[in-house]
Amino acid sequence: MSASAETLENVSQAVDASTADRTPTPAGERYAVRASGVRRVFSGRAVLDGVDLALKKGDFVALLGPSGTGKTTLLRIIGGLDIADEGHVVVPRLRSIVFQEPRLVPSQRVWRNVALGARRPRAARRRALDALAEVGIDQHAMAWPRTLSGGEAQRVALARALVTEPDLLLLDEPFASLDALTRIKMHDLLAALCAKHQPAVVLVTHDVDEAILLADRVLVLSNGTIALDQHVDIEKPRRRDDPRFLELRATLLEQLGIARTVGGEGADVPSDH
Ligand SMILES: Nc1ncnc2c1ncn2[C@@H]1O[C@H](COP(=O)(O)OP(=O)(O)O)[C@@H](O)[C@H]1O
Ligand SMILES: [Mg+2]
Repeated sequence: MSASAETLENVSQAVDASTADRTPTPAGERYAVRASGVRRVFSGRAVLDGVDLALKKGDFVALLGPSGTGKTTLLRIIGGLDIADEGHVVVPRLRSIVFQEPRLVPSQRVWRNVALGARRPRAARRRALDALAEVGIDQHAMAWPRTLSGGEAQRVALARALVTEPDLLLLDEPFASLDALTRIKMHDLLAALCAKHQPAVVLVTHDVDEAILLADRVLVLSNGTIALDQHVDIEKPRRRDDPRFLELRATLLEQLGIARTVGGEGADVPSDH
């Protein structure tokens, strides 16, 4: 999967698509996401106020920030579901979004839910079954969504997101409603899927540990801008007891204005959800 100039789409308002960003990275690759000066105002309040963000193909970025700081708003703008009041956003045409709730169509069997995302209708069933096998849930292909557990339903949502082979995968707190054990399994699954397919990923999370475990870069959104953009220089798989992990966790919690939790399972930023 790659984001060539032809597959890039300008999702900003009032900017001609011909201005799509063709800035090469130092390695000669093109950016998978290029957002600059993004501003979004609700009821006279600027929720986002000058957000700059650049991702290369295969980059995995986690986005942290207290509840109400505009993480979902930024993700929706990058996904083309909302439009910035100011700024430029260029993203790949092939992109998928996974939300906290699986958002499956209850009247459609599992495989059909996944096939909804497929690009070529004739191959849709085969592709859906393959995607379900990849997320380890092909035995439920004929099931109805209501018969699935929360973790199973979220696997289906991941399969539906991946069936298009997206260049950009946007995840908005996808594991927030899952129990701790299921969450750990989903972390492993997501890491494996991303290593295989190499989409650019933006993962919104309120779980600092989740961010450090999975991401190449952790961003903190605060007061409408990216207040911290921290490279995670720890080889994978990462361990929570690695001193570098603990040090980065402390840095991030401090940046988030949260006292460090001692001996806790995770380090959660308070969330609305
Ligand atoms: N469509 C909208 N209309 C009005 N206010 C909104 C809308 N979407 C989000 N907001 C407000 O913008 C702020 C940021 O929301 P959101 O992006 O959902 O934050 P986060 O995901 O970081 O919790 C909140 O105060 C929220 O109420
Ligand atoms: Mg949100």
